[in-house]
Amino acid sequence: MKTRLVEITATIFGFACLPKVYSTMPLYGQCGGKSCHGGRTCANGNPYIYQNDWYSQCMVSSHTTTSSIASTSTTTSDSLEPSSTAPPSLPSAVPPQPPPGFVGVQGTQFVVDGVRFPVVGENAYWVGLTGLGADQMKEAFADIAATGATVVRTWGFSDITTSNSSGVYYQSWSGQFSTANRGEDGMGNFDKVVAAAKANGLRLIVPLSNNWSDYGGMDVYVKQIANSTNHDLFYSDPDIKNAFKYYAHAFMGRYITEPTIMAWELANEPRCKGSSGMTSGNCNPAMIADWAREVAAFIKSIDPYHLIGIGDEGFFNHPGASTYPYQGTEGIDFDANLQISSIDFGTFHLYPSSWGQSGNELDWGNKWIEDHAASMRKANKPVILEEFGVTSDQLTIYSAWLKQVISTGITGDLIWQSGSRLPGWTSPDDGYTVYPDSPVYDLLKQHAVTLQGQIKSSAYKLTHTH
Ligand SMILES: *[C@@H]1O[C@H](CO)[C@@H](O)[C@H](O)[C@H]1NC(C)=O
Ligand SMILES: *[C@@H]1O[C@H](CO)[C@@H](O)[C@H](O)[C@H]1NC(C)=O
Ligand SMILES: *[C@@H]1O[C@H](CO)[C@@H](O)[C@H](O)[C@H]1NC(C)=O
Repeated sequence: MKTRLVEITATIFGFACLPKVYSTMPLYGQCGGKSCHGGRTCANGNPYIYQNDWYSQCMVSSHTTTSSIASTSTTTSDSLEPSSTAPPSLPSAVPPQPPPGFVGVQGTQFVVDGVRFPVVGENAYWVGLTGLGADQMKEAFADIAATGATVVRTWGFSDITTSNSSGVYYQSWSGQFSTANRGEDGMGNFDKVVAAAKANGLRLIVPLSNNWSDYGGMDVYVKQIANSTNHDLFYSDPDIKNAFKYYAHAFMGRYITEPTIMAWELANEPRCKGSSGMTSGNCNPAMIADWAREVAAFIKSIDPYHLIGIGDEGFFNHPGASTYPYQGTEGIDFDANLQISSIDFGTFHLYPSSWGQSGNELDWGNKWIEDHAASMRKANKPVILEEFGVTSDQLTIYSAWLKQVISTGITGDLIWQSGSRLPGWTSPDDGYTVYPDSPVYDLLKQHAVTLQGQIKSSAYKLTHTH
């Protein structure tokens, strides 16, 4: 069921405001410009959040969405009507400790309630997007939990551009207008994903957009709003950034008090180039870093408790380096991005066969892991190998890489990708999929035991600071 609860503009060049001039803005109505004529009063007494001169929005009152965090939450403080002079500040003082049961960070480690939390698990983008019912989702997560996994990464985006689509989608587009789908075939479906993970004791890492065009992705925003194929407008165009913020808020706003969500990620594998391979010609690591800083700060301003990662592949920016993932050409500077204050942890992926390293996967991968461990220590933030895969010689190569994860002390790892065979249904096989009858599945079990054992016996003494 689609709900058209929310219809906002994300758009309009020249920073005009809403095409319909609202004097009272609807829930999630937003204004994107200094000369916004949309009115600064929100319907139903919802708070008006002034973000900056270019962006403001009607939000759900924290008092209706954050009951279990109660008084510690000042996430979307009420009534932030801007004064004529200084903009009111959004809550910036992030509590040093997240609420009970939330995953937090301490140095290079993840913690829950002051105790180290091992991050080991799998990617399963498909759990919410392939028509599974709640019980099937639980079964799929049970296959993952049986490896000893603690964390699953799964997609929190699915955009459509025709009303004709069947299946789950979280946002639909009509021209420049985007509409969040809060119905059962929309975010209501993701509620089931969260519940199914929780029933299996798993936490979720959830990217909110996609570099790739699967399930919509960045290129949909760019096409719909700017009628362009320049992928990097996603990172630079103010209206597109606002549209993404609107979506991010609509999605994550449902889960502000939910400890099953371990982290939000800004995107899956953001890069300068899109499906079309087009960029405006201006894209470079600074552009994506600026975008990440802005969007991560926005998310923190609404949801200060959940962790935030970029979700990138961990490319380094060392122009002239001998292999491509180190050269900075995709617009990612792993070390610089790890310095962004709202980014809580770093991610890197490992696909040497696709990165010009066929035949050299094992050794190249070991070095890639080692180099990210060095960055982890330097930045003193957790870093996870959050996707890795080869399609042949898996057992040998994965054994070596997972040993390297343990010996370098990388904070954690998630394989690409989990597979399930449910009665009458098999999860997608992209050549990397590990079903429960695979020998790799047994390797993952052993690895989870090793990683968890390393954490238990670790010399790190974490203390409750609160
Ligand atoms: C709507 O979906 C049907 C079935 O998938 C397809 O045959 C038809 O072409 C679609 N129409 C439009 C306008 O996309
Ligand atoms: C989008 O761009 C194409 C090609 O530049 C143009 O033909 C088309 O009219 C544009 N569409 C809109 C809605 O502006
Ligand atoms: C972004 O997406 C396209 C595929 O849709 C791809 O050509 C480009 O290399 C992508 N970058 C990645 C995978 O991050």
